[in-house]
Amino acid sequence: MSSVALKVKDLSKHFIVKKSVFSRKKVINAVHKISFDVKQYESLGIIGESGSGKTTIANMLLRLMDSSEGSIELFGKDITKLGVEAMRSHRKDIQIIFQYTHAVLDPKMTIEELIKEPLEIHKVVSASEYDAEVDRLLTMVGLSTSERKKFPSQLSGGQNQRIIIARAIATRAKLIICDEPVSALDVSVQGQILNLLTNLKKELGLTYVLITHDLSVVKHMCTRIAVMYQGEIVEIGETEKVLSSPTNPYTKKLIASILD
Ligand SMILES: Nc1ncnc2c1ncn2[C@@H]1O[C@H](COP(=O)(O)OP(=O)(O)OP(=O)(O)O)[C@@H](O)[C@H]1O
Ligand SMILES: [Mg+2]
Repeated sequence: MSSVALKVKDLSKHFIVKKSVFSRKKVINAVHKISFDVKQYESLGIIGESGSGKTTIANMLLRLMDSSEGSIELFGKDITKLGVEAMRSHRKDIQIIFQYTHAVLDPKMTIEELIKEPLEIHKVVSASEYDAEVDRLLTMVGLSTSERKKFPSQLSGGQNQRIIIARAIATRAKLIICDEPVSALDVSVQGQILNLLTNLKKELGLTYVLITHDLSVVKHMCTRIAVMYQGEIVEIGETEKVLSSPTNPYTKKLIASILD
C-alpha cells in the first residue's frame, strides 16, 4: 500500500513589488491556492509556461521561501510553520536537483568537497566514513572515483549534473524535486541523465516532483502531471490521459504549441 509523501493544500505565494519609490505597490500572485498530493514512489510532473509559478512552488516545498498561505505536509508533518531548528531535521528528507549552471556548484570546491558538504551538514555518516561514502555516491551516479580531485570546470555539463544528483541523494532524501534537470544539456546527454534518475528512483525508492518545459521528459518519467497556468493548477491527472485528451483549453494550447 502506498502512503502519501507530500500533501499540498491551498498553497499560495504573493510577492509585493514596488518598481521605484514613486510607484505603487503591486501584488504578484505567483502561486495561488494550489492543492495536490504525491504518493510515495510516484513521479509527479509539473508543466507550464515560463512564469507560471513552477520554481516558486519548488522554493516553498524546500522552505527556501516562506509561503503566503496554505500547508505543505511532508510525510504527514506540516512544514510550513516549522522554525529553523525543527526544519533542519526535515531538510535532509527533501532535496532539489537544479538545472546545472555554473552558479549551482561552487567552482572553487573539488568534486570530493562538493559531495562531502551535504554529508557533513546533515551528519549522514561519521567523518571517518566520508571517503568511502564519496566513492559510493560517485559510483551510484555513474562517475569514476578518479574524478574526486577535479573541479567542476574540468567536467562536462552532464558530469556536473551527476554531481548535483549525488549531492541530492547524499542525504538519503526520499523526496526529490527536480527543476528542469536536463534542459541545459545536449540532447544526447539528456537521455542518459533521465535514465540515471529512473534507475536511482528504483534503487533508492525515491519519490519525484519533476518540473519541466519538456513533454518528452514527463512522458518518460511521470505517472501523473499537473499543468500550471498563471499560478494555478488548471489540470491534473494521469500523464497519458492529460496528454491524449486534455480537458482544459490552456492545456490543449500548451500541448499543441510544444508538439508543433
Ligand atoms: N522573488 C520574486 N519577487 C517578485 N516576483 C517574483 C519573485 N520570484 C518569482 N516572481 C514572479 O513569480 C512568477 C512565477 O515565477 P517562477 O519563477 O515561479 O516561474 P516558473 O514557472 O518557474 O518560470 P520558468 O519556466 O521561466 O522557470 C513570475 O511572474 C515571476 O516574475
Ligand atoms: Mg522556473
